[in-house]
Amino acid sequence: MFAKETYINRRYALKKTLGTGLLLFLGNDECGMNYEDNTYRFRQDSSFLYFFGLSYAGLAAVINIDEDEEIVFGDELTIDHIVWMGSQPTLKEKATSAGITETRPSTHLQTYIEQATAKGQAIHYLPPYRAEHLLKLERLSVLRQSTGPSIPLIRAIVRLRNYKTKEEITEIERACNVTADMHITAMKTLQPGMRECEVSAALEAVAQANLCSLSFPTITTTRGQTLHNHCHKNIVKPGDMLLIDAGAETEMGYAGDMSSTICAGSRFSTRQKEVYDIQLAAHRAAVAALKPGIPFEEVYDLACRTICEGLKGLGLMKGDPAEAVAAGAHAMFFPCGLGHMMGLDVHDMENLGEIWVGYDGHPKNTQFGRKSLRLARPLEPGFVLTIEPGIYFIPELIDYWKAEKRFVEFINYERLEDYRDFTGLRNEEDYLITETGTRRLGKKKPMTTDEIEALR
Ligand code: GLY
Ligand code: MN
Repeated sequence: MFAKETYINRRYALKKTLGTGLLLFLGNDECGMNYEDNTYRFRQDSSFLYFFGLSYAGLAAVINIDEDEEIVFGDELTIDHIVWMGSQPTLKEKATSAGITETRPSTHLQTYIEQATAKGQAIHYLPPYRAEHLLKLERLSVLRQSTGPSIPLIRAIVRLRNYKTKEEITEIERACNVTADMHITAMKTLQPGMRECEVSAALEAVAQANLCSLSFPTITTTRGQTLHNHCHKNIVKPGDMLLIDAGAETEMGYAGDMSSTICAGSRFSTRQKEVYDIQLAAHRAAVAALKPGIPFEEVYDLACRTICEGLKGLGLMKGDPAEAVAAGAHAMFFPCGLGHMMGLDVHDMENLGEIWVGYDGHPKNTQFGRKSLRLARPLEPGFVLTIEPGIYFIPELIDYWKAEKRFVEFINYERLEDYRDFTGLRNEEDYLITETGTRRLGKKKPMTTDEIEALR
């Protein structure tokens, strides 16, 4: 945890923005995988972590602005719990570490909410993303009384969490350093003939050995054209490329998120290098454009144009790259976003709604490809985001668009047939927007084909 002043100040800023009402924060509970006591890794809700810092199951908290009260609700461990999992600080001690003096048993939350509702107080709560949240909100009669999750609370939280402080950046940078080491380890470990899972095992060990967990399930795949391929069973053959997307999460919950594409043998083939270099050019163009004030959608457009220009050079696309991007033809090869905010969540605050986090309330474009852009708003100092353009050859998408003759003026379908088994590649790094431009977070990981081959 940070010092208690951090949490006191964050709550103060939140209260100041909202001005009135009762803010209800539901922490997360343990969750059984196949029976109650065999649980998934416990992960506290990120907004709960942000305002209270307490990574324990079974807590809730209220900030009652009108009554000037901050209360943590929870239960002391019984001797049975202590025998099972050791002792923990008392509820009072936990609350004190977050700068809160008042605690009450969990069972008192219902009465507290009922009394507040009877007084006519507005109950602000966040969008539930776990069944247990929904059940609790139902039991507390909150769902029936309200028109839904509180947009003012969401917006106030986004306004705080989008701007990372110095102490948060130190934590994120620690996650990024471990993440870079995970990728470097993978680059040194991979041998043709290995299964993908052997590489995931080696890189995940780096996270564990650094007291980190994973910020999301690792992707280690020779089938990189599937954007979130979680199968790790394939044998990596000579001539394959292995796409890795993996990140560490620190004990405090801050994330790193990087991607790499590695040649299975000691060298990339000429064809792989050609496509890799187009992807790298898009990556570099995007990074060079990062600065306060630039709308991230413009950075996305730039990356897309760079990809189209490069693919035109290979004879896979034709026509004017800017027109191809405006029409949406680039999405054949790049059907996803360029990056996302990162912090206590790898896709920061995705549960609060990317329309608030990445679009500042402005509507999203619905065009295939562009609609997957999680971030579009003008960048500001303190934002932490990922840059992750990729080039993918998705046989099903090729067949689908080809049958519809979609964008025949921009896509050379005949030439594309030669690439249908190319798979896909992506690189990803994490960046902080500074007052004047940008700074990469974490140590540099190999990015060029030469740098990767040097480790192979
Ligand atoms: N690295 C996982 C993602 O950005 O979706
Ligand atoms: Mn990412």
